[in-house]
Amino acid sequence: MGEAIVIDNVTSKRLGPPTRIVEEYDAIEVARHPLFANLASNPVNLEALWVLVANTNAGISPNFVRWLALAIARMPDYRIASLLAKQLDDELGNGKPERIHRVLLERFVAGLDPWRPKDARRRSLEPGRRLAARSGEVFDTGAPYEAIGGLMVAEIFANKMDHCLGEEIRRQSQVPREALVWLDLHEVLEVGHAADSLELALLVPDHGYALDCAWQGARKLWAAMWGFLDDVKAAAFAELPVQA
Ligand SMILES: [Fe+2]
Repeated sequence: MGEAIVIDNVTSKRLGPPTRIVEEYDAIEVARHPLFANLASNPVNLEALWVLVANTNAGISPNFVRWLALAIARMPDYRIASLLAKQLDDELGNGKPERIHRVLLERFVAGLDPWRPKDARRRSLEPGRRLAARSGEVFDTGAPYEAIGGLMVAEIFANKMDHCLGEEIRRQSQVPREALVWLDLHEVLEVGHAADSLELALLVPDHGYALDCAWQGARKLWAAMWGFLDDVKAAAFAELPVQA
């Protein structure tokens, strides 16, 4: 039995059962993040969308399969492992290499290439690298149930973020359709994965160290993803030096 993890100076006893994690994060509107609020209230900004999509690819693509596989390998409860294995199979294209999500996401970035910013600060992939490093603290080095809390909120966040991204992409018709398979797929798939978060929550122990870890993982990962949007916004709208 491990020691109780203190989260925000209170223990999970006061934070509630695992289903509360889903309720709490499902209630947060990602569309209200200043990045998406700014994008929605201005003409469509494909340069900013390149920054968002290229950094999502840089942060997630090299890592997500490993994170899911590690979470499965370390999970003693096979019912939880079974739900994660379904997500891993989706991520790896359900046996069809051309449907591997990494391949589709790289095609999305390539489709946005004409809008790749000229300025080095705007096309920095540092937001993605920071997301990977912060998420790695949960998935590579965290306790098994930290990864589960993290994955629960990751799917909730991804579902909301993909919807915001879809809303922006639908405002224009310049990006080639074939580049958008990743987005089309995720706008459907993530609804199911986000629903799986509740199933996962029902399987996480509702007391003790496992619950503390799940809360810890959820808190850390949500902060990493919200911080990622902050970083993307800062990069996409970086003040450029005045040209002499
Ligand atoms: Fe995916």
